[in-house]
Amino acid sequence: MLKKILGKAVSTLAGGDDFAIPQHDSPLFAGLDWDKLPRHVAVIMDGNGRWAKGQGMLRTAGHTAGVKTLKNILKTAIGLKLDALTVYAFSTENWKRPETEVSFLMNLFSEYLHKEVQEMHEDNVQIHFLGRLEGLPKSLQQQMHDAEELMKDNTGVKFNVAANYGGQDEIIRAVQSLAGKAANGELNPADIDEAMFDNSLDTAGNLPVDLVIRTSGDMRLSNFLLWQAAYAEFYFTDVNWPEFSPECFVAAMKDFASRDRRFGGLNDNKK
Ligand code: IPE
Ligand code: IPE
Ligand code: MG
Repeated sequence: MLKKILGKAVSTLAGGDDFAIPQHDSPLFAGLDWDKLPRHVAVIMDGNGRWAKGQGMLRTAGHTAGVKTLKNILKTAIGLKLDALTVYAFSTENWKRPETEVSFLMNLFSEYLHKEVQEMHEDNVQIHFLGRLEGLPKSLQQQMHDAEELMKDNTGVKFNVAANYGGQDEIIRAVQSLAGKAANGELNPADIDEAMFDNSLDTAGNLPVDLVIRTSGDMRLSNFLLWQAAYAEFYFTDVNWPEFSPECFVAAMKDFASRDRRFGGLNDNKK
């Protein structure tokens, strides 16, 4: 039984059936309004454990399966020419999980980077990590740093991976950094505005989040991108992350295209 579970998990990660970047005229994109795509999409990749349980597998097998989903969604985001894809991989609250699950996840992140960095680089992806990275294992920090360095001059999709990330923690770190500058006279507190604050966050240089997707049925932010999602649209689906397909992602894009975004104002047809 164990062999079967591990075998399945390993072959899922190895992912023999590679999904290529879908081209503009791919049937996957049929009926899509390209002028109404979000530019920055953020995803709360939830439901790995529940999916695995439903398959009679260990929770950790769900995380392994989720890596394959992530790979396919990144390829789809590239095909869509999104400006940024930001994914929630590990929260500041996830340390509350059993030590075995936490260390499995840390190893999985490391294995993922080891296997995928070169291909992401070839796909012109700019990877960036968000969160309190110094709280992660040293070797993982090094891999993250190396991946960011390798891809720093790329011009394709910005792929932000949130690990040991909490929106409140990120805001506190930004406040500490600005307050430090004010205390040593580098900054006049009255000059702090939204743009400066935005630039002090881990997501500096990214556009605001247009769309937050959360899989597996729960409808909450769980401390994700509290500042950046100020005017985001939300899309919730019952599908668990390991089964969230490129088709599901495109369905979210189509739903987004139908939203009436008013930003507090009035749209012409509503006057
Ligand atoms: C999301 O899946 C992945 C992480 C939080 C790392 P979960 O592990 O939260 O799966 P569920 O929500 O328990 O099903
Ligand atoms: C949010 O999922 C964090 C990630 C997807 C990494 P959780 O499963 O940790 O969120 P809660 O506990 O249901 O709020
Ligand atoms: Mg969860």
